[in-house]
Amino acid sequence: MTAKLVKLGGGLLLALLAQNVMAQDISLGRMKAQRCSGCHGPLGLAVAPNAPNLAGEASLYIEMQLRAFRSGDRLHDQMTIVASRLSDEDIADLAAWFQAIQVVATAPDLN
Ligand code: HEC
Repeated sequence: MTAKLVKLGGGLLLALLAQNVMAQDISLGRMKAQRCSGCHGPLGLAVAPNAPNLAGEASLYIEMQLRAFRSGDRLHDQMTIVASRLSDEDIADLAAWFQAIQVVATAPDLN
């Protein structure tokens, strides 16, 4: 039973990844992300205080969240509306774009 579930889960993940590899276009994602920039910033560093940074985030995670907003599994006033207008291709392109942005993290000086 457990092995069967693990197998099923792996299959779904592989299907998602395969779809990801086939469909994503970073350049198109950059263009499509213009409509996200008012909140998430032009390079995925959020400008709205209630919006998260998307720069450097794993595309799989971004895809899963956008699909969850679109299906209603994850609810949010603004993102539910934004995601309802996205096709599977839009989601793949956007996720590829945000993942491709490089982020440098610097620890705070605690002294
Ligand atoms: C009007 C402001 C606004 C716009 C425009 C907007 N977002 Fe968001 N987005 C938010 C906010 C606020 C959240 C936090 C949602 C929550 O609190 O659950 C969010 C959350 C997300 C998340 C989940 C991130 C996480 O860490 O879980 C993703 C992915 C995302 N947005 C992608 C996009 C994309 C792609 C676009 C453009 C197509 C976009 N957003 C446009 C405000 C916006």
